[in-house]
Parts: sequence; C-alpha cells; structure tokens
Amino acid sequence: MQNIRSPISQRVMKISPSGIRRFFDLVSSMEDVVSLGVGEPDFVTPWHISEAGIYAIEKGYTAYISNYGLLELRQELSRHLKSRYSLDYDPNSELMITVGVSEALDLALRAILDPGDEVLAPEPSYVSYMPCTILTGANFIPVPTTVENEFKVQAAEIEKRVSGRTKAILLGYPNNPTGAVMDRAGLEQIAELARRHDLIVISDEIYDRLVYGVEHTCFASLPGMKERTIYLGGFSKAYAMTGWRVGYAAAPAEFIEAMLKIHQYTMLCAPVMGQMAALEALREGEDAVKEMVMEYDRRRRAIVKGLNEIGLPCFEPKGAFYTFPSIESYGLSSDEFVERLIVEQRVLAVPGSTFGECGEGYLRCCYATSLSDIEEALERMRRFVSSL
Ligand SMILES: Cc1ncc(COP(=O)(O)O)c(C=O)c1O
Repeated sequence: MQNIRSPISQRVMKISPSGIRRFFDLVSSMEDVVSLGVGEPDFVTPWHISEAGIYAIEKGYTAYISNYGLLELRQELSRHLKSRYSLDYDPNSELMITVGVSEALDLALRAILDPGDEVLAPEPSYVSYMPCTILTGANFIPVPTTVENEFKVQAAEIEKRVSGRTKAILLGYPNNPTGAVMDRAGLEQIAELARRHDLIVISDEIYDRLVYGVEHTCFASLPGMKERTIYLGGFSKAYAMTGWRVGYAAAPAEFIEAMLKIHQYTMLCAPVMGQMAALEALREGEDAVKEMVMEYDRRRRAIVKGLNEIGLPCFEPKGAFYTFPSIESYGLSSDEFVERLIVEQRVLAVPGSTFGECGEGYLRCCYATSLSDIEEALERMRRFVSSL
C-alpha cells in the first residue's frame, strides 16, 4: 500500500493484536500439547439445544428477523431475569439480542462514549475491554486488582481515578482471567460511587451461572442501579454455546435504543437459528447447566490443589473456569514462562500480562478441559517448575 497515505486509522493502530495469538500459532504445529489455554467449555452444546437450532432451520427460520431479536426469546429472558434477580425488563424496549456478549459490549461502549471520555475498568480483565474502548476514541483507565483482595476491585481504587471525563465503569465479574467473584458489599460500594459521580456501569455477567459455593450478585439488581446499568449476558459459557453467537443486553430503553441504532446498521440481527436454540436453552437447559457446573467445580478443586502443591501458589477462584497462579518466584516474565512451558513440556497456558500490566507474574490456566488432561498438565508443569 505504498501509494496510500496513512492507510490505517490511528485508533486501529493504537490497539495491539491479542497476546494469546502468538502462543496459539506456536502450538498449532506441535503434537501432544495439553491445553489450559482456550477460554471456552470443552462440552458440546447439550443435544436438545442443538436440535432446536436444527429444527429451526428445517422449519425455514433462515431469514432476517427483528433488529431487537426474537420476541419469544426476549420474553423468556425477561422472565428469567425476573426470577433470578428480581429485575423487571420490558421485552419490547429494554432487551435486545446480540451476536454474543462481544457485540453487546461493543454496542454499549459505542452508544455511550465520545472521544476523550474515560472508562474505568478493573484489571486484569477480559482482552476485549481495552481495545473496544479505544476504538470509540475514549480512554481506558485500568484499576489494578491484587491477589491480597482476591482480585476483587476496591471501590476506593476506582474512586481515586474518577475525573471530570469519567463516563462509565466497566465491570466483568465473575472474572476472566482471575476467577474472582465480587461480593454484594463490594458491589454496593461501587454502586454508591456510581450514583455520587453520576457514572454509567456496564456489567459483563457472562459467567453469572458459573459460581462455586457463593452467590452471584447481579449489579443491576442493587437499589437504584437498574437505571444506570447496561447488563450484558450470554449463552456461550453456561450452555456451552460459544459457536452459536448469541448474547443480549438489558438496560433502560434509552440505552437499548441507542445500541439498536448501531446494531441495525452494522449487524442487523443475530442469527435466528441460534436464537431459537437459545430459547430452548433458557426453557429446558437448567439441568445441563447444573451438571456442567458440578463438573467444573470438581476440576476447579483438583487444579487449585495441584497448582498449589507443585509450587504455583493460587488463590481459590470462586467463579468462571479459570485459575490464576503466581509464577513470581521463578524470575521469568509470564511470556517467557508460557513459551518455555510450551516448548519444554507441551502445556499451553496464557501469560497473565495478556490481561493487563498487573497480570504480570501470573498465568491463566483454564480448567474447562477434562480431569485427565488437567492431571497430565499438572504433572508436566511439576516437571517444568522443578527444572527451573
Ligand atoms: C468476560 C467475557 N466477556 C465476553 C466474552 C465473549 O462472549 P461471547 O461468546 O458471548 O461473545 C468472553 C469470552 O471469552 C468473556 O470471557
């Protein structure tokens, strides 16, 4: 593109490709790799859910539908949010179906941000939060979290960073990559400061169903918070439906209307057969969710115990399907650690630094993989750390 002056936009130039990609490329040419890398369920979608998608295609549901998404699905979601979190969302104006939480996040940020605005977000955090914020022209302001607080963000740390340009707080709990879950008291403090500084809260609760021995508190359900929260939820994790690409946003009508404006020009609608499958998931998927959660919990306990025993200290994560052990005592950066672990022992994990600066000194190990693979990975990691 020699003849084109500045072919790529400044905003795109400001974001880097995901740090995970280099390691996935490295393992793609290797055999016998045990992966704790990919953040998605190893289960296939429960068959009755897949069948509903197949049946939708058989019945000719292969066309565009309403920009808002399938009405029955919005109605079912409205009932679901009422029964789980006592929240009232009008299916006609306060709920929309998106192409995964990924699209819902992008829409929420673009709907509320102007260039120069600031978004405060706990770190380590999901890899899309910063780039999607930067693409709007706004600034991403990380709020570090620490193992001492079990990676729960502290309201005081958020408040220190509030400025005249702060527009929103972006929360992602249960957390990817740490597995941290916020307790109600901590969220109430954040709610109080959101009210005081008049901030919008975008709450990505895609892992809400994956909690172990604790309760998930939905941010929008805190007193006075529904009116200033954009709640993001999805089907990918709880129902093992990553490839179906269905998620949703629930928020006051003014936010949904603004998000819908972008969605109708850029995406039009989420795939209808995926939405039919999601409807079946909500109606009949509860047993499958419970079974998968029980299995993740077994694996969680095994991996946390194993990592601690082999010298990779790890706090007990209470949500999602990630552990976040410390590698600080080995004197390697998390990138170097992961690269050598792949080359020397054929185990794939993700460097903590991928999720923000304060993730340096840690690894993300995903336990959405079989118990036998987890045991094999732990044995290889034991060999690796004892060779250091
Ligand atoms: C915290 C978080 N939010 C959003 C997503 C994207 O989910 P979806 O498949 O619904 O786009 C992921 C996927 O890994 C995630 O971990």
